[in-house]
Amino acid sequence: MIEPTGHSELDALLPRIAAIAGLDADALETEQTALLGRKAGVFTTLLKSLAELPIEQKRTFGAAVNRLKTAAEAAVDARRAALDEVAAQATRRAVDLSMPGRKRAIGGIHPTNAVVDEIVGIFRGLGFSVATGPEIETVWYNFGALNFPADHPAMDVHDTLYVDVAPAAGEQGDPTLLLRTHTSPVQIRVLQETPPPVRVVMPGMVYRKDPFDPSHAPAFLQIEGLAVDTDITFVDLKATLAHFARSFFGAHTVVRFRPSFFPFTEPSAEMDIQCRLCAGKGCPACKGTGWMEILGCGMVHPNVLASAGLDPEQVSGWAFGMGPQRMAMQRYDIRDIRTLYEGDMRVLEQFR
Ligand code: DAH
Repeated sequence: MIEPTGHSELDALLPRIAAIAGLDADALETEQTALLGRKAGVFTTLLKSLAELPIEQKRTFGAAVNRLKTAAEAAVDARRAALDEVAAQATRRAVDLSMPGRKRAIGGIHPTNAVVDEIVGIFRGLGFSVATGPEIETVWYNFGALNFPADHPAMDVHDTLYVDVAPAAGEQGDPTLLLRTHTSPVQIRVLQETPPPVRVVMPGMVYRKDPFDPSHAPAFLQIEGLAVDTDITFVDLKATLAHFARSFFGAHTVVRFRPSFFPFTEPSAEMDIQCRLCAGKGCPACKGTGWMEILGCGMVHPNVLASAGLDPEQVSGWAFGMGPQRMAMQRYDIRDIRTLYEGDMRVLEQFR
């Protein structure tokens, strides 16, 4: 408590100084200016009024004003310190150390890429290397060199997307440009550059004038495979591809080879695996057949080896082509191929 001064004018300020202890931050600011403001504060005014007083009053009244002024300053400082501490405590309470940390989104490998990597990895384990080729190809590499007859229906404008750019001079065969419709032209490019023995897988994007619907996409992936050496036989093809199927789908996978036709292989086949959902009994997933088609394959046609500058009397080979997105769909039970293109986080998070 502050001792009264005996000057009624000054003692009237005592309740006001006492009240400082209960002010909020804004009111404290206002009261500090009103009482202690250097220009027009109550104490400045009182000290100015001293000049008019007789000398002996000046001393006692002046001392009393200064005592109350010091008390008012102390009260303001104390109240400000108290309010700062309350604010600091509130901030400390706002930091809850037991709260779990914020989860950071971490990227993952897309299921399509994971399947491509896995397939390529299986063939790498068998001594195959990896090659790629251009997505814009000439008619000759995409069709002619692969023994397609000149009027083959696959070349129809309905299937093939042509590129409206003048072809380069000096190209072998028909130089008209197109978006490759399959990865098989990479076989020719590899054989032109690498003398046999060749064992290579060739992943990449291919393009066709197809709708974007649950089972088609105008741009999709293929993985091509090729082995060319002396004395390569159909036995090498069957054993290698059966090993691949068991590595990818599981050790007990049952495979079958069915005769088929491709211009660039002779004989040609398709490899099926027994449907794993119904164990071959027939179900909606395998359309009642008990089998699921996995890839096309065959012995490299002599005309294809000749296109690449090799002598079909000296070397032989086998080849395959498969769609890794279809294999991803089978493995993960994805019913609509568009799911693999959409980047929907609700889907992708399931593959992290
Ligand atoms: N190129 C074929 C396609 O797009 C797939 C294919 C079949 C590739 C048999 C091959 C093969 O290498 O031997 O449908």
